[in-house]
Amino acid sequence: MTTINENYLKLKAGYLFPEIARRVNSFCEANPEADVIKLGIGDVTEPLPAAITQAIHKATDEMSQRETFQGYGPEQGHDFLREAIAKNDYQDRGVSISADEIFISDGSKCDTGNILDIFGSDNRIAVLDPVYPVYVDTNVMAWHTGEADGQGRYEGLVYLPVTAENNFKPAFPSEPVDIIYLCYPNNPTGVVASKEDLKQWVDYAREHNSIILFDSAYEAFVTDPEIPRSIFEIEGAREVAIEFRSFSKNAGFTGTRCAFTVIPKELVAKTSTGEPVSLHQLWNRRQSTKFNGVSYILQRGAEAAYSPEGRKQIKQLVAFYLENARLLREGLEQVGITAHGGVNAPYVWLKTPGDFDSWGFFDELLQKAHLVGTPGSGFGAAGEGYFRFSSFNSRENVEAAVERFQKLVS
Ligand code: MLT
Repeated sequence: MTTINENYLKLKAGYLFPEIARRVNSFCEANPEADVIKLGIGDVTEPLPAAITQAIHKATDEMSQRETFQGYGPEQGHDFLREAIAKNDYQDRGVSISADEIFISDGSKCDTGNILDIFGSDNRIAVLDPVYPVYVDTNVMAWHTGEADGQGRYEGLVYLPVTAENNFKPAFPSEPVDIIYLCYPNNPTGVVASKEDLKQWVDYAREHNSIILFDSAYEAFVTDPEIPRSIFEIEGAREVAIEFRSFSKNAGFTGTRCAFTVIPKELVAKTSTGEPVSLHQLWNRRQSTKFNGVSYILQRGAEAAYSPEGRKQIKQLVAFYLENARLLREGLEQVGITAHGGVNAPYVWLKTPGDFDSWGFFDELLQKAHLVGTPGSGFGAAGEGYFRFSSFNSRENVEAAVERFQKLVS
């Protein structure tokens, strides 16, 4: 009989967010009158900026005419979008990245998982704890780990705890690692990394010949000019880092889908016999074989994010969610909760009040305040006793959520 990839059996039954949705749906079925406010998954709520929808309409019209219709596009993405990204996100900020180092995709979640296709299976891999669960689960699926222990930590992965005790600053691995996942502004804690923090990681990677997988999906939320928005702002990063970025959270593309991955041409890893091989070439090969690109229409929409109007509208959108984050954080602090993040980041990370563990607090909030957040333990063992609120919602809902939260815990 056909066999399965048994690594899937090592995974927890459900991916975190579908599991939350399952619990919320079952609560709503049992309590149809409850007006539940969801600040769980970081899913945007505000409509696409007008500059983007106009570009999407125009591109759709092009597709309806024989003269301008397009079939397959380049698997790496259209030049017009790659060039707009290279110029606006990198070169205009003094960062050296060229258009052909950018690979357009349908999401950073997919790319951070798929990137494992080009790495060997004997790499030692480090993740922060708590962490975006995709990094861990995709390594489990790719045969890189043993079983999970009682706390859900997989044998073979190196976990770097980030908690209030170390001010959410991970210690360097005590044993050398080959691949390190970093995400800043951080999901789930909302904490940011300074230039010095990232420089230390780049230095670490250079010293140990490791590769940093840098998830920068939330960079648009950085308003402090001292905080880096890209790992490539750090000298030497081109030789040690891959960066993942997305239009999901800044331009509202969670349901529209467009993202990109940056792989500098000088970045190499080695074969088992020690020969250096370009990761840019391998990823290009992987994408040309397994991916047919993002639709032309949506790439035109993403390109409009860089037009003068698009930039203005995106800035307003990001400012709107950042104001939500401020209201959430300050609302929690007003009732004595220790909150982190929510500044230069869309997530607010809090200590669960009283004796509640993360899932206990999730249930309490849902049952008594009809409010949904994400249990910190869902992001890893070191997230136990913490809880995350997402600022992606309407102002009305965020204000109501703060009121309900305050009433519950006061
Ligand atoms: C989250 O809530 O952590 C994010 O929405 C997950 C994602 O972007 O896939």
